[in-house]
Amino acid sequence: MAQQEYLWWQSGTVYQVYPRSFQDSDGDGVGDLKGIISRLDYLKWLGITAVWVSPIYPSPMADFGYDISDYCGIHPLFGTMEDFDQLLQEVHQRDMKLILDLVPNHTSNEHPWFLESRSSRDNPKRDWYIWRDAKEDGSEPNNWLAVFGGSGWEWDDKTQQYYYHAFLKEQPDLNWRNPEVQKAMFDVMRFWLDKGVDGFRVDVMWHMIKDEKLRDNPPNPDYKQSQSTYQQVVPAFSTDQPEVHDIVAMMRDVMDEYDNRVMIGEIYLPIHRLVTYYGADNEGTHLPFNFMLITLDWNATVLKSHIDEYEGALPEGGWPNWVIGNHDKPRITSRVGTSQAKVAGMLLLTLRGTPTMYYGDEIGMRDVPIPPDKIQDPQGLNMPDKDLSRDPARTPMQWDNSKNAGFTEDGEPWLPLPDNFKRINVEVQRDDPYSMLTFYRRLLELRQKELALHIGDYQPVMARSPLLAYIRKNNGQSYLIVLNLGHKPCVFRPEHESYTGTVVLATDPERENQKVKGNISLAGDEGLLILLD
Ligand code: NOJ
Ligand code: MG
Repeated sequence: MAQQEYLWWQSGTVYQVYPRSFQDSDGDGVGDLKGIISRLDYLKWLGITAVWVSPIYPSPMADFGYDISDYCGIHPLFGTMEDFDQLLQEVHQRDMKLILDLVPNHTSNEHPWFLESRSSRDNPKRDWYIWRDAKEDGSEPNNWLAVFGGSGWEWDDKTQQYYYHAFLKEQPDLNWRNPEVQKAMFDVMRFWLDKGVDGFRVDVMWHMIKDEKLRDNPPNPDYKQSQSTYQQVVPAFSTDQPEVHDIVAMMRDVMDEYDNRVMIGEIYLPIHRLVTYYGADNEGTHLPFNFMLITLDWNATVLKSHIDEYEGALPEGGWPNWVIGNHDKPRITSRVGTSQAKVAGMLLLTLRGTPTMYYGDEIGMRDVPIPPDKIQDPQGLNMPDKDLSRDPARTPMQWDNSKNAGFTEDGEPWLPLPDNFKRINVEVQRDDPYSMLTFYRRLLELRQKELALHIGDYQPVMARSPLLAYIRKNNGQSYLIVLNLGHKPCVFRPEHESYTGTVVLATDPERENQKVKGNISLAGDEGLLILLD
C-alpha cells in the first residue's frame, strides 16, 4: 500500500493542560498563561505535539472557566491577550499545535447575551436561550435534571419563566435552534482561528440540541443511590438529538474555512452513538473523544471487546482516538492503581489513534485527597454525600521538591499538594531510567519514530485475560504489544502463530533487548512492546 499522508492531529499526541493547575507565574496560587509558556520546553522534551488548554476566558468561575462571560477575551487571572498571543507563538515556534476549549452549549449567566435575554420577554435575545412557561401548577416545564444536581430549570422572577441549564444555574444553555446563536458562535470560532489557533475541543457536543418538544426524559430503572442525581432519568430527549449533527457539520464548515485545523468533540456515549459524530461522509467532528479507557472496567476481556468493537464501528476514513484522563474524572493512577499505571500508558500510546494525555499522568500523579472544607468543585459541593468532587484530579502539577512543588512560589496553591510530592515530581523522575516519566518519554519517542506505532494498522491477537495483546503494523514492520492487566505473573500462549522478536520497550526496562519466541512469560503488571522479526 502506498504511504498515505497523515495530518498532525492523526500522527501526534495531545496533552491537556488545566490552566489553573499547571504553572503559576505571579504568585497568586493559580496557574496562568505565562506559567504555561515557561513549561513549553518541558512538553517539547516529553514528546508532546499538541497542547489543549482548558478555558482561559473571562468567567465568574462558578464552574472554573466553563461558565464564560466573554468568548473573545482572556481572564485576568490567566493573563492578557498579549500573553495569549505569545503563548500561541511560542507553541508554534516549537513546532507544536495549540488547541483551545470551545464551550458553545452554555454561557455564564453573567454573559451580556444572557443579561439581555433575561431582561424582558420581548428582548431580541430572549430566544437565544431556552425559556419556557411553568406548568399550570407552577412546576418546571419538564423533568430534565442538571448534571450538577437538582432540576435543569431555574425560575426567573422578573420575567416569570423558567430557563434551562444542563449544568449549573449559572450556566444557561444557549438555544442552538436559533440561527443568530449559531452565527454568533461561528464568529467566536473565527476569532480564534484567525489568530492561528489550531483547533478546538468542543465542550459537551452531544448536549447542544434538545428535543424540540422538550419531552420528559424516561426514568432510569438502574439508578443507584450512590450515583449523581442526574442519573435518575435517561437523557433521551435532552442530549444526542438527531439535529445535533447538522450543527456539528456547520461547525466543521467553519473549521474548513481554514487549513489544517482540528475539531475534537467531548462526547460521552456508547460506541455505536459516538461514531455517528464523525458525521455523514466524515463531515462531522474530526475526533469524537473516545473515553473508553476512562469509563470501562480495567479488565482485559472488557477492554479487548470494546477496542475491537470500536475499530469495527469506525466509519471509513474516521480516525480513532483514545483518552486516558481529564479534569472531570479520577486520574488513571487512582483508578487502576500505581502498579498498573505504566501498563495503562503503554495501552494509550500503542493503540491505533490519536492519544490524549492529562497533565501529571506522565509522572503518575494520583488523585489528591481534599479536606471537606477545601472542596471547590460545584459538583462536589452540590451533592456532598456522593464524593463526586473533581478537585482531586485538578491539583497543581508537581514539578520539583521545592515549596509548593515548583507550582507557585509564595502563594497558597488553589488546591493542596499531596504529602508525597517530593517523591512524585518531574525533577526526581527526569533522569531516573525506571521512572514513569522516563517510560512515557521513551514511549512517546518510539511512537513518533515508528510509523507502525502511530499510523500503522491494528490487528487483534487472541490472548486470555488478564492479558491483552494486539499487533500494530506498517509496511512489513510489526510490533506485538502484550499487556498483563493482572498483578500475578502469567504466560502468553499464542494460539495460532508463534511470534519471534525482540523486546524494545517494557514496563521494566531490564526486560529490554531480550529475544522472545513462542510462549512468553510476563511478570504481574508487565507490558511488553516487541518488534517482530
Ligand atoms: C464538560 C467539562 O469538561 C466540565 O469540566 C464542565 O463542568 C462541563 N462540561 C460543563 O461545561
Ligand atoms: Mg497566577
